[in-house]
Amino acid sequence: MLNRRSLAVGALVALGTLAAPVVVAQQASPADQAITYRKSVYQVILWNLGPMGAMVQGRTPFDASTFARNAQRIATMAPMLSEAYVVESATPGKTRAKAEIWKNKADYDKLMQDFVTQTASFANVAKGGDLAKIRPAFGQMTQTCKACHDKYRSE
Ligand code: HEC
Repeated sequence: MLNRRSLAVGALVALGTLAAPVVVAQQASPADQAITYRKSVYQVILWNLGPMGAMVQGRTPFDASTFARNAQRIATMAPMLSEAYVVESATPGKTRAKAEIWKNKADYDKLMQDFVTQTASFANVAKGGDLAKIRPAFGQMTQTCKACHDKYRSE
């Protein structure tokens, strides 16, 4: 049976549903949105990289189709990163991106471009399904992650 209390709860639930997107939109500044976006892209990349690393190292059996699929996903995600490095997002404490990125933007963009190129050619090698070729290509591709992290990501 409906009483005053359950009506009030119902109204609150309805309000909450309607109000939630508005609140989110007000809270996330353009800087926060850019930081959340790029971290999410890196997380998607990492999620797909993990199983490939295990296969390359022989910790799990090599599955050519999963490997090629994940490599293609990373190649698709990589070009989505550079747009997230808006200058407003150089916010100490909220991000591990070093301020040097925006001082050396041309150098940073070059590392990002290398990464995009590497992930695309790696996806092609992965499509071939030959583990003997995939292994060195995997090392080369992940080297571009390290090159950038060493220089531009703080601990
Ligand atoms: C051109 C530079 C660059 C390249 C290439 C790059 N990263 Fe990063 N990565 C960064 C920076 C800068 C951050 C810090 C982002 C932040 O905190 O706002 C980061 C953060 C991350 C994070 C943490 C995300 C989080 O939730 O805080 C992961 C995971 C990651 N990178 C994985 C990778 C992997 C894996 C690759 C290669 C396949 C890669 N990155 C390639 C610059 C790069």
